Amino acid sequence: MLTSYFPLSLSCGILGIPKKLSTLPQKSLYFTLGHSLHFFRFFFNQKRLLALKPFPKNKRIYNDQRGVVTQAQASHIRGSSSSIRWLKRQQSDPYTRMAREQGFAARSAFKLDQILNSYHVTRAQLIIDLGASPGGWTQVLHRRFPCAHIISVDKAPMTPIPNTTQLILDFTNTNTPRIIGNILRDRKIDLLVSDMAPSFCGHKQTDHIRLLALAELAFEFGKLTLKHGANAIFKINRGGTESQFKLLLQQYFERVCYAKPDASYKDSSELFVVALGFIGRNRDDE
Ligand SMILES: C[S@@+](CC[C@H](N)C(=O)[O-])C[C@H]1O[C@@H](n2cnc3c(N)ncnc32)[C@H](O)[C@@H]1O
Repeated sequence: MLTSYFPLSLSCGILGIPKKLSTLPQKSLYFTLGHSLHFFRFFFNQKRLLALKPFPKNKRIYNDQRGVVTQAQASHIRGSSSSIRWLKRQQSDPYTRMAREQGFAARSAFKLDQILNSYHVTRAQLIIDLGASPGGWTQVLHRRFPCAHIISVDKAPMTPIPNTTQLILDFTNTNTPRIIGNILRDRKIDLLVSDMAPSFCGHKQTDHIRLLALAELAFEFGKLTLKHGANAIFKINRGGTESQFKLLLQQYFERVCYAKPDASYKDSSELFVVALGFIGRNRDDE
C-alpha cells in the first residue's frame, strides 16, 4: 500500500497538483498525471522545433502543419544539417502554408491540381487514387469532381472524405486488385492516379527502381480497369528507366507526357507521367 502510494504523492508534488486530488481513486490520478506529462512533452518538442534543433532519437516530434511528423520524416529530420534545411524549407514553403489555409491534408494536393489544370482533365465519374494517404490528392479530386465516386487506396489511414471509398491495403499484395475489382464490378474507371512512393532508403538507384515498380503495378491494374479514352497520372522519378516506362505507356495511350508541376520541388528528382486517352489495347497487337 505504502509503496504504491509514495511515487504518486511525490509526482503530485513535483507537478504542482493540489493535494485534494490525491484523494481521488488511483486510476484517475494516473490518468491526470499521464495528461500532464503529455503536455510537458508536447511543449518541450515545440520549443525544439522553433529553435530548429536536431531531435534526439526515438522522440515523438511535431510539425506545424499536420501535428505529428511521420516516421519517414522523423528519420529525415534527425540531427543532420540537411534535415534542418528541410525543416526551414517546409516552414517557408508557400504550398505548405496554402495547404494549411485551404484545409488540404498535404501540400502535394497542389501537384495534382496543377497537373489537372495543365492537361485540362475536366471530367471523371469513377476515379482510383493509389497511395492516397494522408488525403491531399483525394481532396483535390473530390473538390473538382464532387459527383464522382473515388476509391482511395493506401497502406496508411487517411483523412475521411465524402463520396470516397477508402481502402487501407497494400497495393503490392496480390489480393488488393481483386478487392478493388469486387468494388468496381463491371464498371470501368475514367481516371487513375498513383502517387504511391516507397519509404526511400537513400540509395538513388534502389529508390528509383522501387518507385517505378509501384507505377508499373498501378499501370498493370489500369490496363484491366480503364475505360476507353480514360486518363492516368503516375508519380515516378528521374533515375534512368523512366523513359522505358513512358515508352510502355505510349503503346496504350494516345498521348503521354512528363509533368513537373510548380509545387514539386525543383531540386527533387520527382516527376509525373501524364497518360491521356487510353486506347484499350496494345498497338503492337494490331
Ligand atoms: C507521397 S505519399 C502520397 C500523398 C497523397 N497523394 C496525398 O496527396 O496526400 C505516398 C503514399 O504512398 C503510399 N504507399 C507506398 N507504398 C504503397 C503500397 N504498396 N500500397 C499502398 N500505398 C502505398 C504510402 O503509404 C504513402 O502514403
